[in-house]
This record gives sequence, structure tokens and C-alpha cells, in this order.
Amino acid sequence: MDTLPPLFLSLSLSLCLLSLATLVSARHALAGDFLRLPSESDTRGTRWAVLLAGSWGYSNYRHQADVCHAYQILRKGGLKEENIVVFMYDDIAFNEENPRPGVIINKPDGGDVYEGVPKDYTGEDVNAHNFFAVLLGNKSALTGGSGKVVDSGPDDHIFIYFTDHGGAGVLGMPAGPFIFADDLNEVLKKKHASGTYKRLVFYLEACESGSIFEGLLPEDINVYATTASNAEESSWGTYCPGDYDGPPPEYSTCLGDLYSIAWMEDSDIHNLRTETLHQQYKLVKERTIGGGSYYGSHVMQYGDIDLSSDVLFQYLGTNPANDNFTFVDENYLRSSSKPVNQHDADLIHFWDKFRKAPGDSAKKNTAQKQLLEVMSHRMHIDNTVQLIGKLLFGVEKGPEILNNVRPVGSVLVDDWACMKAMVRTFETHCGSLSQYGMKHMRSFANICNAGIKNEQMAEVSAQACVSIPANPWSSLQRGFSA
Ligand SMILES: *[C@@H]1O[C@H](CO)[C@@H](O)[C@H](O)[C@H]1NC(C)=O
Ligand SMILES: *[C@@H]1O[C@H](CO)[C@@H](O)[C@H](O)[C@H]1NC(C)=O
Repeated sequence: MDTLPPLFLSLSLSLCLLSLATLVSARHALAGDFLRLPSESDTRGTRWAVLLAGSWGYSNYRHQADVCHAYQILRKGGLKEENIVVFMYDDIAFNEENPRPGVIINKPDGGDVYEGVPKDYTGEDVNAHNFFAVLLGNKSALTGGSGKVVDSGPDDHIFIYFTDHGGAGVLGMPAGPFIFADDLNEVLKKKHASGTYKRLVFYLEACESGSIFEGLLPEDINVYATTASNAEESSWGTYCPGDYDGPPPEYSTCLGDLYSIAWMEDSDIHNLRTETLHQQYKLVKERTIGGGSYYGSHVMQYGDIDLSSDVLFQYLGTNPANDNFTFVDENYLRSSSKPVNQHDADLIHFWDKFRKAPGDSAKKNTAQKQLLEVMSHRMHIDNTVQLIGKLLFGVEKGPEILNNVRPVGSVLVDDWACMKAMVRTFETHCGSLSQYGMKHMRSFANICNAGIKNEQMAEVSAQACVSIPANPWSSLQRGFSA
């Protein structure tokens, strides 16, 4: 039983990328400024950063690898450890499947990025509640973790980088509910109202990540955000098994995400005092689109676009070793040949494990069981959501209403509380959506937009799901998603 449907072979992985904007600031004209070493006079106040990987499990290796890499860039750039808050589950470096114990890499020939990364919030402490408390600098709201928060003042610059799975209006979290877009934007507004930053830049990698800010992020709170994808497409994983640019053969997992490695590999080599957010946005956008073929995603920008004329130095600092590598306006980074859609990246992992296990071994059986469980969870979720749509709206109208995409610039859903309630109702009857189920978030939004009441949803969910499948992917052990 070595052959699986060709479906497995034709997967392509996608990740979400961010983009930076390019504008030449007037200061570039002053050669004297170039030659000066970084000093407090270049940026009054302090640079803060929050780095968050929202996933767990070896099949999601790449998100924690991204975050570790980002940490190294910021430290080389001159940020202090006390000003960088790291959220990551921390189950990768010493995972039994990791071929290099204690080491995490973010590209095939890359060095260790794990060393020195602080364990501020790990395991179940990586949750939406702590993320918001850290951003708001509210220590008393924290549960667990190192207690480090963004204790910023009015002159400070804040950089937030988030990488994980996502869906329309949501970002993943290893524990507890997902992050919902309305809550995140409220937190940003609250942070602004507290007068505790000058400017804030948010780089976001996740599927459908444009939906997190579209129609929600104000233009007048000094926040500039770029997202790996627009509101309705996947983002992409890269350096995946099977790619010519893939990981060393002993790795059965993707090493990075396309948008993420694009901004980081750019930041790795340039003098960031001469490169603007806009210039990086353009480079990252070009690399993430994947050469215009069927894979790749559209990097978007939201919020106060004027901020993108800032040099990256104001947020990321700069590595003195790159002082002679000023920005040149062309993308000479390799573009990735065969990224994989984020929704399918875990399948690549389970398939690769299955493929590599010796025939007839216990390992092979386990790998096959895992693969089938993942597949059966996917089918269960896809089928029940579709069935619920048909029960609510009829066989013809069901799929149309569930998949409806509002015009560009519109917010995903009018009533976020309704959307959260629909998710809970679904999960009560049908089991957890889990990571893969995030792709159906738009359906829950549209059920609310169509005016369906929670009681109707409960009734059809009970009809669609007679019992909750016993499969670990369908269990409720990690709590409701909303
Ligand atoms: C901090 O969090 C606590 C607990 O959630 C809350 O009661 C308090 O109002 C928060 N403080 C601020 C300044 O938001
Ligand atoms: C940059 O170039 C100058 C002049 O060639 C040289 O003296 C300096 O060491 C170089 N700096 C770095 C970091 O390579």
C-alpha cells in the first residue's frame, strides 16, 4: 500500500508574505547622515518588537523558524532583548522529529536561528489574551509567561510580526480561541488612545491575512500593516520537501513561509538605514506573487500608507556588518520555485513521513494512520460545512452564499459576535474546526451576513453532525475556536 492518490503529489504550498514600502526620505540626500553610526538621535525613544508564531507541531516547523529568524535580525539590528517579546510554542527545537536537536533553520543552507531566543511566552501561554495584554503593556492581565510586555512611551516605535495559519477574519493560536480581527483592531486603537507609541508597523503572514485589516484598520492611528495575502487567498509555505529548493532530505517539513522569508532575507543583507518600508514592500510583493503562476499571493498594505516612507532602521535597527550594502532597487534574491499552500503544508509533512518510512514497518503504519486521520478530519469539516449551507439556504443557494466574497475594501462580517457564536455552535455539534477548518471562516461570516439566527444554526448543525468524530483532529480538547 505504497501508492496514495495523485492528489498528494500535486500539492502546492502557499505562505503569506508582507510587503514594505519604498520612499526615499529626504535624509538620504545628506551623505553625512549615512556615515553616522546608529544613535539615539536617529530615532528618539525605544524600538520595541513583538514576534509571534501561532502554531504548534512539527508539521508547522516553519512558523517558529520564521519567528526565531526575525529575532536574530532584530538583535543584530541593535534591539535589546528586554524590548523584544517572543511568543512561540517551543516544541520544535527538541521535537523527536527534528533531525538536528536544539537547532532550528529557516532556509535549506541556513544556520541555527534558535540560539538565544528568549522563552517569554511558550506552550499554552501563547494565546490571544496574553498577546493583547503584552501589546497594551498590561502586566496584571497576563497569565503565565516571563511577564515581559511592551512598556512603551510616546516616542517609541513598535514592530509586530505574526506568522501562522489564518482564515477570513481569524489568526491561529495554539491554545484557546483564535484571534478575531475585530478584537485585534480594537486593541490597536486602544494602544493608540493610550499615547504609548509614535508609530507601529505590523507584518502579518497568514492565509487570507488581508481580511484582518480590510475595512477595519483606521488610517489615522499611525499604524502601517502589510499582509502576506489579500483577504481571500492562501499564503504560502516555502523550502518544502519535494522542492528543488527544499530542505535537506532528513527534514520532512517546510522550513519557511514565502512572505516571511522575503522580508527577512531582504533585511538580512541590507543597510536598513537606506531602505524604506515601501522599498521592502515592493520587493516582498514581487517575490511573494510567485512569478504570476498559480501559486503565490498578493502582498497588501493597510492603515497609514504614508508611514511607509520611513526607513526600516526606525523599526528593525540595522546590522553594522551590512553598512556597505545599501539598497539597490532590484530583487536579486532567488525566488522560490515551488511553494506550498499553507492549508496543505501539513499534508506534505504527513505524506513525506509516510513515503520515507521503510515498507511494512511500524513507522509506516503509524505514518499512514496519521495521514488518513488528517484526511478524514478534512473531509468531515468540508462536508459538514457544505451540508449546513445546503440545509440553511437550499441545495443551489447554499454554496453560493457560503462562498460569497464582499467587494474589496469591505469588512468581512457586520456582526462579529454573531460569527463567534456560529463557530461555537458548529463546534459544539461537529467538533473542533482546528487549523484546517479556518478555511471555512468566511462561511460562518456569511451565515451571519444572511441573517441566520443561532437557534437555526444549532438545529442544522445537530442534523449535519450526529456525533463528534473520535479522530484527534476533531476533538474539543484544545477548546473552542471562538
Ligand atoms: C489590565 O487588565 C486588567 C485585567 O484584565 C483590567 O482589569 C485592567 O482594566 C487593565 N488595565 C488597563 C489599563 O487596561
Ligand atoms: C565598508 O567599506 C569601507 C570602505 O571600503 C571599509 O573601510 C569598511 O570596513 C566597510 N565596512 C564593513 C562593515 O564591511
